[in-house]
Amino acid sequence: MKSTWQKFQVRYSSSPSSKRWLARQDRDQFVKKAQSQNYRARSAFKLLELDQKYNFIKPGSVFIDCGAAPGGWSQVISRKLLDIPTEETNTNLNSNLIIAVDLLPIEPIPGVNVLQGDFTNISTQQKIKELLKGRDADVVVSDMAPNFSGQHFIDHVKSMELCESSLNFAEQVLRSGGTFLCKFLMGESDYEFRNNLKTKFDRVRHEKPQAVHRKSTEGYFMCLGYKK
Ligand SMILES: C[S@@+](CC[C@H](N)C(=O)[O-])C[C@H]1O[C@@H](n2cnc3c(N)ncnc32)[C@H](O)[C@@H]1O
Repeated sequence: MKSTWQKFQVRYSSSPSSKRWLARQDRDQFVKKAQSQNYRARSAFKLLELDQKYNFIKPGSVFIDCGAAPGGWSQVISRKLLDIPTEETNTNLNSNLIIAVDLLPIEPIPGVNVLQGDFTNISTQQKIKELLKGRDADVVVSDMAPNFSGQHFIDHVKSMELCESSLNFAEQVLRSGGTFLCKFLMGESDYEFRNNLKTKFDRVRHEKPQAVHRKSTEGYFMCLGYKK
């Protein structure tokens, strides 16, 4: 049976630009690691690195993963929350709740509730709230990225809109002390967004994990200690 990566290669290998992109992927150490560890996306290593530093993927947690397709981050969360060998933490396993949402379909992942829809729509957010069944979320993560136009300013603005939307939602569902992580594309207004985050969280850090391409303007805001 073909892996998700192999199916992707077959589907997108026809045009010259796709060929160049695929050649780059073949040279990329994180792509290789993702393939060997059976992660659906190299981005899994961004979340793994951030979790290693901040240790926020904990058993018994309620997680919301926005912009989750094809599912690399949800795999990381699921593996860490479900593969817990000690009896001590087994009591927490039933209380894990992972909700993954994306515009695109996501193939099933153990222990993950998948929703397809536009996260910025109230109706999608309502569906997430229904799955929460009145529980607060411990962590909201967003790796959402707009369709790139190639014009940096436009992409930056769209990315900040996605950040605003995920923050707005996080404020409705996060527990006090909860964690928020969101991807953004650097530009004129990220400073303002960061200042806003600082009023709502105890600690806000700008992170650029190793798996982010060196020349990329992509960054992450890691926010700890939500002040509800
Ligand atoms: C970089 S990918 C996420 C990769 C994912 N974290 C992983 O590890 O597999 C960005 C995703 O954001 C999604 N996205 C962008 N805008 C969205 C929106 N308004 N609602 C839901 N998903 C969105 C895209 O469809 C895309 O799948």
